[in-house]
Amino acid sequence: MENVYIETYGCQMNFADSDVIAAILKTAGYGLCSAAEEADFILINTCAIRENAEQRVRHRVRELRALQSRRLHLRIGVLGCMAERLQNRLMAEEDNVSFVCGPDAYRRLPEIMKQIAGSRQQVAEVELSETETYADIEPVRLSGNGVSAFISIMRGCQNYCAYCVVPYTRGRERSRDPETIVREARNLFNQGYREVTLLGQNVNSYGLTPNPSPEWRGEHIAFPELMDRVASIDPQLRVRFATSHPKDLNDSLLEVMASHENICRCIHLPVQSGSNRMPKLMNRKYTVEWYLDRVDAIRRYLPDCSITTDVIAGFSTETEEDHQATLDLFRRVRYDYAYMFMYSLREGTYAWKHLADDIPEEVKKRRLNEIIALQGEIALENNRKEVGREYEVLVEGVSHRSKEQLFGRNSQNKVIVFDHRDAEVGTYRRVKVTSCTQATLLGELVQ
Ligand code: 5AD
Ligand code: SF4
Repeated sequence: MENVYIETYGCQMNFADSDVIAAILKTAGYGLCSAAEEADFILINTCAIRENAEQRVRHRVRELRALQSRRLHLRIGVLGCMAERLQNRLMAEEDNVSFVCGPDAYRRLPEIMKQIAGSRQQVAEVELSETETYADIEPVRLSGNGVSAFISIMRGCQNYCAYCVVPYTRGRERSRDPETIVREARNLFNQGYREVTLLGQNVNSYGLTPNPSPEWRGEHIAFPELMDRVASIDPQLRVRFATSHPKDLNDSLLEVMASHENICRCIHLPVQSGSNRMPKLMNRKYTVEWYLDRVDAIRRYLPDCSITTDVIAGFSTETEEDHQATLDLFRRVRYDYAYMFMYSLREGTYAWKHLADDIPEEVKKRRLNEIIALQGEIALENNRKEVGREYEVLVEGVSHRSKEQLFGRNSQNKVIVFDHRDAEVGTYRRVKVTSCTQATLLGELVQ
């Protein structure tokens, strides 16, 4: 049996895709191994969202040359967003790569791998689809802990934010048949999983773009209804979701969340910038006022809900005032967590065609560092308020710092570390918070 090693970079959606890829290859008779040194094929599932994500992958591909010189039959394939973006160019520039395969072509992997095995051929399979959702494939959970799993509910994106390459690498938005989603979640629960995260680039538009797939069997329902059905599987199954586009976050979802205790109190709501000029230039289709109205709505329906965000420092024409407005917004919303990035110009995007990348690198870096420093203070202050509170924690595993300690997360998605005793992974335990750092709560089991 030939062995495949899959290495994944990038977002949660990529990790979910790697599980689908593993399932396709396993069905085709390949073995899955957990070390590159044992592999006959190395598949690298890649991210193209920022230049540095691509540089990491290129570096890794070049590093693999050494292994290839010892294992002459070893073939390397690049999958995912970078494969889609660069196509043949990638194989011309990295000539130790035998094939590239885009996000909608994974069913063809066994065929491609048969074709290139034992030859010096290079193959590119990068056709995008308007219907593919891999709905019928039961993923092989490669990196799971047996407690928490991702379920991909839709693919692609057609929001065309000016800076973003995703609509070009992942294609048109399409939703997956709800019946297959509920079935996957129920199967996971029956296998002992206690948490599922429903994934899409913009889950709030789930079901709104009809999927013309001939395989579509069920009805078309919107996201709040889907959440209701998944949350109704069992009160012991926690349900999370990501990502919400602020333009589409509506009250009916918040109502459904409020009516199910097992829908987690955590919403990821990428703001990108706190200055009204920027979301307009970014084609985000909301104003800062609209965004703050959504934040108020979340707090009204779900007073104990945590809110997290994405932000970009140094987008085209961003002034010091725009940057200050972002800092002000952070002070106002008081996010529990933020993913913070420097703007990276991506070929093919609207910004690449029409907007200058005119903020110097040092200025981008300084602004980013100011946001990071402020968010660090806010996160620590937020966490300090948690000391003394008690939470229901889903136990996920042994703490990385000490074997004597376990960790889990509360509904708000905060990591809590606590002493072992008899708590078992995959169970819910009450934990009282006793102290904290910026990133973690420390606590003790409550009898
Ligand atoms: N440069 C920097 N950050 C980006 N993101 C998307 N595209 C870019 C880019 N070109 C960020 C956004 C998005 C997150 C997934 O990545 O904040 O929400
Ligand atoms: Fe990119 Fe915008 Fe789509 Fe998110 S919603 S994937 S930022 S285009």
